[in-house]
Amino acid sequence: MAIIKTLPDPLALARAAAAHFVTCSQEAIADHGYFAVALAGGSTPQLTYETLATVEFASHIQWEKVHVFWGDERCVAPNHADSNYRMAFGILLRHSPIPVKQIHRMEGELEPKEAAQAYEDQLRGFFGPKAPRFDLILLGLGEDGHTASLFPGSKALEEKKHWVVANYARRLSAWRLTMTAPLINQASDVTFLVSGENKAEVLRRVLAGRYAPEDIPAQMIRPEHGQLRWLVDAAAAALL
Ligand code: 6PG
Repeated sequence: MAIIKTLPDPLALARAAAAHFVTCSQEAIADHGYFAVALAGGSTPQLTYETLATVEFASHIQWEKVHVFWGDERCVAPNHADSNYRMAFGILLRHSPIPVKQIHRMEGELEPKEAAQAYEDQLRGFFGPKAPRFDLILLGLGEDGHTASLFPGSKALEEKKHWVVANYARRLSAWRLTMTAPLINQASDVTFLVSGENKAEVLRRVLAGRYAPEDIPAQMIRPEHGQLRWLVDAAAAALL
Protein backbone atom coordinates (compact mmCIF):
# COMPACT_ATOMS: atom_id res chain seq x y z
CA MET A 1 0.00 0.00 0.00
CA ALA A 2 1.44 3.40 -0.91
CA ILE A 3 2.24 5.88 1.83
CA ILE A 4 1.03 9.40 1.02
CA LYS A 5 2.36 12.22 3.18
CA THR A 6 1.14 15.76 2.59
CA LEU A 7 3.41 18.59 3.80
CA PRO A 8 2.18 22.19 4.17
CA ASP A 9 4.61 23.81 1.73
CA PRO A 10 7.65 23.16 -0.55
CA LEU A 11 10.19 23.69 2.22
CA ALA A 12 8.43 21.27 4.56
CA LEU A 13 8.32 18.79 1.67
CA ALA A 14 12.07 19.24 1.08
CA ARG A 15 12.82 18.74 4.78
CA ALA A 16 10.70 15.60 4.92
CA ALA A 17 12.41 14.25 1.81
CA ALA A 18 15.87 15.05 3.20
CA ALA A 19 15.01 13.36 6.49
CA HIS A 20 13.74 10.30 4.60
CA PHE A 21 16.97 10.19 2.56
CA VAL A 22 19.02 10.23 5.80
CA THR A 23 16.89 7.48 7.37
CA CYS A 24 17.10 5.29 4.26
CA SER A 25 20.87 5.75 4.14
CA GLN A 26 21.33 4.82 7.80
CA GLU A 27 19.12 1.73 7.49
CA ALA A 28 20.79 0.56 4.27
CA ILE A 29 24.34 1.04 5.56
CA ALA A 30 23.47 -0.77 8.80
CA ASP A 31 21.93 -3.62 6.79
CA HIS A 32 24.43 -4.16 3.95
CA GLY A 33 27.25 -1.63 4.28
CA TYR A 34 26.32 0.78 1.50
CA PHE A 35 23.46 3.07 0.37
CA ALA A 36 22.52 2.90 -3.32
CA VAL A 37 20.27 5.81 -4.24
CA ALA A 38 18.97 7.03 -7.62
CA LEU A 39 18.27 10.75 -7.85
CA ALA A 40 15.43 12.43 -9.70
CA GLY A 41 15.96 15.23 -12.17
CA GLY A 42 13.92 18.30 -13.00
CA SER A 43 13.15 21.22 -10.71
CA THR A 44 11.10 19.75 -7.82
CA PRO A 45 13.96 17.89 -6.10
CA GLN A 46 16.32 20.88 -6.15
CA LEU A 47 15.05 22.26 -2.83
CA THR A 48 15.41 18.77 -1.34
CA TYR A 49 19.03 18.54 -2.54
CA GLU A 50 19.75 22.03 -1.18
CA THR A 51 18.26 21.01 2.18
CA LEU A 52 20.16 17.73 2.17
CA ALA A 53 23.40 19.66 1.60
CA THR A 54 22.99 21.59 4.86
CA VAL A 55 24.91 20.44 7.93
CA GLU A 56 21.61 19.63 9.67
CA PHE A 57 21.12 16.69 7.28
CA ALA A 58 24.45 16.05 5.51
CA SER A 59 26.27 15.47 8.80
CA HIS A 60 24.10 12.40 9.40
CA ILE A 61 25.05 10.70 6.12
CA GLN A 62 28.05 8.38 5.88
CA TRP A 63 29.01 9.70 2.41
CA GLU A 64 31.94 7.28 2.10
CA LYS A 65 29.35 4.49 1.91
CA VAL A 66 26.94 6.22 -0.48
CA HIS A 67 26.64 5.37 -4.18
CA VAL A 68 24.64 7.89 -6.22
CA PHE A 69 22.94 7.03 -9.50
CA TRP A 70 20.32 8.79 -11.63
CA GLY A 71 16.86 7.58 -12.61
CA ASP A 72 17.11 9.39 -15.91
CA GLU A 73 19.21 11.88 -17.84
CA ARG A 74 18.92 14.21 -20.73
CA CYS A 75 21.12 13.37 -23.75
CA VAL A 76 23.46 16.26 -23.15
CA ALA A 77 27.01 16.74 -21.85
CA PRO A 78 27.52 16.71 -18.06
CA ASN A 79 28.19 20.45 -18.03
CA HIS A 80 25.05 21.29 -20.03
CA ALA A 81 22.41 23.43 -18.31
CA ASP A 82 19.81 20.64 -18.82
CA SER A 83 21.95 17.90 -17.26
CA ASN A 84 20.37 16.20 -14.24
CA TYR A 85 23.88 15.19 -13.15
CA ARG A 86 25.05 18.82 -13.31
CA MET A 87 22.04 19.96 -11.26
CA ALA A 88 22.50 17.41 -8.46
CA PHE A 89 26.29 17.74 -8.45
CA GLY A 90 26.14 21.53 -8.24
CA ILE A 91 23.49 21.68 -5.52
CA LEU A 92 24.42 18.66 -3.38
CA LEU A 93 27.28 16.37 -4.33
CA ARG A 94 30.04 18.96 -4.76
CA HIS A 95 29.41 19.99 -1.12
CA SER A 96 29.71 16.42 0.14
CA PRO A 97 32.76 14.20 0.74
CA ILE A 98 31.30 11.42 -1.44
CA PRO A 99 34.16 9.63 -3.27
CA VAL A 100 34.06 10.67 -6.95
CA LYS A 101 34.09 7.02 -8.09
CA GLN A 102 30.82 6.54 -6.18
CA ILE A 103 29.02 9.11 -8.33
CA HIS A 104 27.64 7.02 -11.17
CA ARG A 105 26.31 9.40 -13.81
CA MET A 106 24.57 8.47 -17.03
CA GLU A 107 26.81 9.52 -19.95
CA GLY A 108 24.38 11.80 -21.74
CA GLU A 109 27.12 12.88 -24.11
CA LEU A 110 27.27 9.45 -25.75
CA GLU A 111 25.02 8.16 -28.54
CA PRO A 112 21.77 7.40 -26.64
CA LYS A 113 21.59 3.64 -27.18
CA GLU A 114 25.30 3.29 -26.38
CA ALA A 115 24.86 5.39 -23.23
CA ALA A 116 21.92 3.28 -22.07
CA GLN A 117 23.85 0.03 -22.57
CA ALA A 118 26.90 1.49 -20.82
CA TYR A 119 24.79 2.48 -17.81
CA GLU A 120 23.10 -0.90 -17.65
CA ASP A 121 26.57 -2.50 -17.73
CA GLN A 122 27.59 -0.18 -14.88
CA LEU A 123 24.54 -1.25 -12.85
CA ARG A 124 25.21 -4.94 -13.54
CA GLY A 125 28.79 -4.39 -12.44
CA PHE A 126 27.66 -2.71 -9.24
CA PHE A 127 24.94 -5.17 -8.24
CA GLY A 128 26.68 -8.27 -9.62
CA PRO A 129 24.55 -11.42 -9.63
CA LYS A 130 22.24 -9.93 -6.99
CA ALA A 131 18.95 -8.31 -7.95
CA PRO A 132 19.40 -4.59 -8.74
CA ARG A 133 17.75 -3.45 -5.54
CA PHE A 134 18.22 0.27 -4.99
CA ASP A 135 17.77 1.31 -1.39
CA LEU A 136 15.99 4.48 -2.49
CA ILE A 137 14.82 5.82 -5.82
CA LEU A 138 13.59 9.42 -5.90
CA LEU A 139 11.16 10.28 -8.69
CA GLY A 140 9.32 13.35 -9.90
CA LEU A 141 5.98 13.54 -11.68
CA GLY A 142 5.40 15.40 -14.93
CA GLU A 143 2.10 17.14 -15.66
CA ASP A 144 1.55 14.59 -18.44
CA GLY A 145 1.91 11.69 -16.00
CA HIS A 146 5.49 10.78 -16.89
CA THR A 147 8.13 9.87 -14.34
CA ALA A 148 11.86 9.55 -14.88
CA SER A 149 11.86 9.67 -18.69
CA LEU A 150 9.00 7.21 -19.08
CA PHE A 151 6.71 9.34 -21.22
CA PRO A 152 3.12 8.53 -22.22
CA GLY A 153 2.98 6.35 -25.33
CA SER A 154 6.78 5.98 -25.52
CA LYS A 155 8.58 2.74 -26.37
CA ALA A 156 10.30 2.50 -22.98
CA LEU A 157 6.94 1.66 -21.40
CA GLU A 158 6.97 -1.70 -23.19
CA GLU A 159 10.48 -2.65 -22.01
CA LYS A 160 10.44 -5.80 -19.92
CA LYS A 161 14.09 -6.93 -20.03
CA HIS A 162 16.46 -3.99 -19.97
CA TRP A 163 17.09 -1.91 -16.89
CA VAL A 164 18.09 1.23 -18.79
CA VAL A 165 17.00 2.35 -22.24
CA ALA A 166 17.24 5.30 -24.60
CA ASN A 167 13.75 6.69 -25.04
CA TYR A 168 12.57 9.24 -27.61
CA ALA A 169 10.30 11.85 -26.06
CA ARG A 170 8.09 13.00 -28.95
CA ARG A 171 6.66 15.94 -27.01
CA LEU A 172 10.19 17.21 -26.33
CA SER A 173 11.59 16.07 -29.70
CA ALA A 174 14.52 14.76 -27.70
CA TRP A 175 16.20 11.53 -26.66
CA ARG A 176 16.41 10.71 -22.99
CA LEU A 177 18.10 7.96 -20.95
CA THR A 178 15.88 6.31 -18.38
CA MET A 179 15.64 3.50 -15.89
CA THR A 180 12.73 1.25 -16.82
CA ALA A 181 9.75 0.31 -14.66
CA PRO A 182 11.02 -3.29 -14.18
CA LEU A 183 14.22 -1.88 -12.65
CA ILE A 184 12.56 0.84 -10.57
CA ASN A 185 10.07 -1.68 -9.21
CA GLN A 186 12.92 -3.75 -7.74
CA ALA A 187 13.78 -0.96 -5.29
CA SER A 188 13.33 -1.18 -1.52
CA ASP A 189 11.85 2.31 -1.45
CA VAL A 190 10.50 4.47 -4.27
CA THR A 191 9.64 8.00 -3.20
CA PHE A 192 7.87 10.50 -5.45
CA LEU A 193 8.38 14.20 -4.71
CA VAL A 194 5.47 16.30 -6.01
CA SER A 195 5.04 20.03 -5.44
CA GLY A 196 2.84 22.83 -6.74
CA GLU A 197 -0.74 23.45 -7.84
CA ASN A 198 0.24 22.65 -11.44
CA LYS A 199 0.64 19.00 -10.34
CA ALA A 200 -2.74 18.74 -8.53
CA GLU A 201 -4.67 17.34 -11.52
CA VAL A 202 -2.05 14.80 -12.56
CA LEU A 203 -1.57 13.67 -8.95
CA ARG A 204 -5.31 13.10 -8.68
CA ARG A 205 -5.24 11.08 -11.94
CA VAL A 206 -2.33 8.96 -10.74
CA LEU A 207 -3.68 8.22 -7.29
CA ALA A 208 -7.45 8.35 -7.74
CA GLY A 209 -8.03 8.05 -11.47
CA ARG A 210 -8.48 5.02 -13.75
CA TYR A 211 -5.45 2.70 -14.02
CA ALA A 212 -4.09 3.68 -17.44
CA PRO A 213 -0.29 3.28 -17.33
CA GLU A 214 0.12 3.81 -21.09
CA ASP A 215 -1.27 7.32 -20.58
CA ILE A 216 0.02 7.79 -17.02
CA PRO A 217 3.38 6.01 -16.80
CA ALA A 218 3.81 6.97 -13.13
CA GLN A 219 1.14 4.34 -12.44
CA MET A 220 3.61 1.67 -13.64
CA ILE A 221 5.65 2.29 -10.50
CA ARG A 222 4.57 -0.48 -8.12
CA PRO A 223 7.58 -1.79 -6.17
CA GLU A 224 7.47 -5.61 -6.07
CA HIS A 225 8.98 -5.91 -2.59
CA GLY A 226 9.58 -2.31 -1.54
CA GLN A 227 7.64 0.64 -0.26
CA LEU A 228 5.99 3.22 -2.53
CA ARG A 229 5.84 6.65 -0.95
CA TRP A 230 4.45 10.00 -2.08
CA LEU A 231 5.78 13.14 -0.41
CA VAL A 232 3.61 15.96 -1.70
CA ASP A 233 2.86 19.52 -0.68
CA ALA A 234 -0.63 20.88 0.04
CA ALA A 235 -0.85 22.66 -3.31
CA ALA A 236 -0.19 19.42 -5.22
CA ALA A 237 -2.60 17.51 -2.97
CA ALA A 238 -5.44 20.03 -3.41
CA LEU A 239 -7.61 17.63 -5.48
CA LEU A 240 -7.04 14.48 -3.42
C1 6PG B 1 13.60 15.05 -15.64
C2 6PG B 1 12.90 14.22 -14.61
C3 6PG B 1 11.43 14.23 -14.86
C4 6PG B 1 10.84 15.15 -13.81
C5 6PG B 1 9.43 15.51 -14.12
C6 6PG B 1 8.94 16.58 -13.15
O1 6PG B 1 14.67 14.65 -16.11
O2 6PG B 1 13.06 16.14 -15.92
O3 6PG B 1 13.40 13.03 -14.42
O4 6PG B 1 10.81 12.99 -14.77
O5 6PG B 1 10.92 14.50 -12.55
O6 6PG B 1 9.41 16.04 -15.44
O7 6PG B 1 9.75 17.71 -13.34
P1 6PG B 1 9.63 19.00 -12.39
O8 6PG B 1 10.06 18.55 -11.04
O9 6PG B 1 10.58 19.98 -12.99
O10 6PG B 1 8.19 19.43 -12.43
